[in-house]
Amino acid sequence: MDILGFITVPGWVLTVIIVLITLYLYSLWYQSLWRRLGIPGPKPIPFLGVLPLYMKHGIAKGDLQLVKTYGSVVGIYQGHLPILLVSDPEMLKEIFIKDFSNFTNRSIPFKMAKENACGVGAAYDNHWKFLRSTISPTFSSGKLKLMVPKIQRCCTDLVENIEQHSEQGELVDMKEVCGAYTMDVIASTAFGIDVNSKKDPNNAFVKHAKQAALGLIFKPQLLIIMMFPFVKNWFTVRFAGKEVGEFFKSVVDSAIEIRKKGQEVYNDFLQLMVTARRDENPSAYFTTGDLKEFKNRGLNNMELIENAVTFFIAGYDTTANTLSFACYCLATNQDVQDKCIEEIDNVLHGEKPQMEDISKLEYLDRFFNEVLRLYGAATRFQREGKQDVTVKGVYIPKDVDISVPVYALHRNPLYWPDPEKFDPDRFTAENKAKRPEYAFVPFGIGPRICIGMRLALLEAKMALMFMLQTFTFSPCNKTEIPVEIESGGIIRAKNGIPLKINKR
Ligand code: HEM
Repeated sequence: MDILGFITVPGWVLTVIIVLITLYLYSLWYQSLWRRLGIPGPKPIPFLGVLPLYMKHGIAKGDLQLVKTYGSVVGIYQGHLPILLVSDPEMLKEIFIKDFSNFTNRSIPFKMAKENACGVGAAYDNHWKFLRSTISPTFSSGKLKLMVPKIQRCCTDLVENIEQHSEQGELVDMKEVCGAYTMDVIASTAFGIDVNSKKDPNNAFVKHAKQAALGLIFKPQLLIIMMFPFVKNWFTVRFAGKEVGEFFKSVVDSAIEIRKKGQEVYNDFLQLMVTARRDENPSAYFTTGDLKEFKNRGLNNMELIENAVTFFIAGYDTTANTLSFACYCLATNQDVQDKCIEEIDNVLHGEKPQMEDISKLEYLDRFFNEVLRLYGAATRFQREGKQDVTVKGVYIPKDVDISVPVYALHRNPLYWPDPEKFDPDRFTAENKAKRPEYAFVPFGIGPRICIGMRLALLEAKMALMFMLQTFTFSPCNKTEIPVEIESGGIIRAKNGIPLKINKR
């Protein structure tokens, strides 16, 4: 082809050039939002945005770098998807609490499978309100108390598993044993299934449960959506694989059948949700509409199954990793470990730990909060607005992902002097009063805060009491100090947490 009579270019080369220029302009257009709104942020790389930064440093440390450089409101692009990183505590209060009716929903950048949209973590608007209000009572202190015997049994297995390893002179990877413990707790408290997953790793529940947790890892469809957001509704993305979903469905179905026939009294979430279900006519079920209409129905089968699975997916890995980091912090801060033990001994006098003891362990609470500050499992949590709004002078367009960079907020020296130092005394009443309330948000904020927070604290503190009554932790030559974390959305120790166990 002859261009203006000067050069001759083959037609296919010209087509490639035009396509590349169009793609470049398309990318520039998508990545112009924050510049137009005057919000600071890194210069995006066409098509990739900040993905190379996250690929190099991981999400948590990438966020930390961005917040250090650009401040507490940063506009970024994951591919072409705009994300506003907000870590200003006052703005968080406005968005997550005062304007909750606008910011009710989580930002989910893909079309979810129908069953996934029935989980309380993913549901929208009135469907979420209905699910949350129906399911929340299952996490009340009274209901959790009924689950304590199950948790105590799992704690006994945890201590035995660790003792067995250490008696054979082995180092114990706390990431692995804490994973087995929280798997046992969630299997028994959510599904009514008693397993010892450390001793019985081939158990069908344990195998499928591990696959479900892995299913949350990055999906290739997401990369395509990040590049071309308009294809968002073309694919249906499942949180866990189809086979895993079907396995859990069959587990819940048969558990419900057994409960219908048997005389036994079950004290688990499944039973509490079954009790919350008022009618079984599936034709009457809907997921949108007026809240008053929802009040006339109970949970349907799909909601029941999906929420049992949600408890598992949201509760297993998060608690396991936080607990394993707690052991790491004890091992690497012997003075703190001594204080925790002294307090446990003074309160428990060698008796079996009970739920009532937890409120008396004030130092253990400070210690665990400091673990959650540095190693709380969630790197981010999100909302998206239904309307454009201006919050503290920042214009936030509707439908944009507002993400809280928890790891960065918990290390902001404005609120946490010498942020990498492990110091439980940051959580004395006096020190807490010196910083804004929403500078510490390991379980999220507002009406959509983690529904399992009380269970997580109960199971983690119970495990710490049981373990510290029996042994102490110290670092070994394989313990990584400082511990390296994985690059994904959950804070996990990349190379495990091998520790030396010393019998008390
Ligand atoms: C140390 C352990 C845990 C941590 C750090 C954690 C953290 C979080 C965070 C940050 C959120 C987002 C909250 C927000 O958007 O404001 C969340 C939501 C949620 N968590 Fe947890 N979580 C933990 C354990 C658990 C457990 C044990 C369960 C259940 C058994 C659970 C179930 C959920 C559910 C269902 C949601 C969604 C709630 C909703 O959308 O209404 N989590 N969690």
